[in-house]
Amino acid sequence: MVTSSAPGTLFLFGEHAVVYGEPAVACAIERRTAVTAEQRADSQIQITAPQLGFDGIQLELGNGEPSINVEPDRVREAGRYIVGAIDQIRELTESPATGFDITIESELPMGAGLGSSAAVTIATLDAAARECGRTLTADELAERGYQVEYQAQDGGASRTQTFCATMGGAVRVEGEAHESIPAPDLPFVIGYDGGGAPTGELVANVRALKDEYGFAAGTIAAIGDLTREGEVVLADGELSDLGRLMDFNHGLLAALGVSSRSLDEMAWASRLAGGAGAKLTGAGGGGCIVALDPEGTAQPALELTPECEWAFAAELTQTGIRRE
Ligand code: MEV
Repeated sequence: MVTSSAPGTLFLFGEHAVVYGEPAVACAIERRTAVTAEQRADSQIQITAPQLGFDGIQLELGNGEPSINVEPDRVREAGRYIVGAIDQIRELTESPATGFDITIESELPMGAGLGSSAAVTIATLDAAARECGRTLTADELAERGYQVEYQAQDGGASRTQTFCATMGGAVRVEGEAHESIPAPDLPFVIGYDGGGAPTGELVANVRALKDEYGFAAGTIAAIGDLTREGEVVLADGELSDLGRLMDFNHGLLAALGVSSRSLDEMAWASRLAGGAGAKLTGAGGGGCIVALDPEGTAQPALELTPECEWAFAAELTQTGIRRE
């Protein structure tokens, strides 16, 4: 029985646009998902993850869509990442009938923009591989993690969050290129509305908008330009400029239809309370915003915002995959 953990991640700039080859910058945060894998005598996969809504659920692997006997969309989506990761390890070890008991402990809200899928994918890959006597390099983990997300999101995935969850720290991704970059300690505060939406669906909505309207393609290109500006500002560590660009990025994501009333309310609450800037993180449609809170005023304001279910400070972590 082995345990691995991986951190949550947030997008400082560039989600959605990164799916079309524009750059993105993401940071790992000190909230983790730990996965314990233990081989079974049979070929079943039994998942226990009370925080994710799984409690002793059995998944059947076969061709195509896994059969998961639970209804809510976000739980079904989480199941696809876990099954995808196990499939990868079965292929790697050439043992298609290996069964596992998988136990997941997560400090991350699920499907809410903090990279819960990437964290669970990377930690499952690492734990299941080691349980089978194989240790993957960080590059192998990130590559396999990307393949899992790519399939689970029907091709609408970038390398950003799987690479960031593997490496920790701050990363830059542009198409196939991915690298770790330096970043100062940033005073992040997260506001969570208690909801979220399946990533694959939101990516598909943006693709449909882009196919229908020229402005949407222009908006995606504008997010790319803004991210390139943001990289320079991040290197300078100038918080007010960084926050301003985050505000613009939120506006452009709203133009692509992936914000929501609660995300907008939380972004405004943190800005009006003196936060340096705020934006939604991840696929959107509900879930989390990330704000820069240099004066410590945005967090209490979020706590008083009716749309915000949970507000918490999040530190950047340099620790990616960790073998527990
Ligand atoms: C989802 O968290 C972020 C997207 O950009 C998809 C991805 O980068 O894989 C929408």
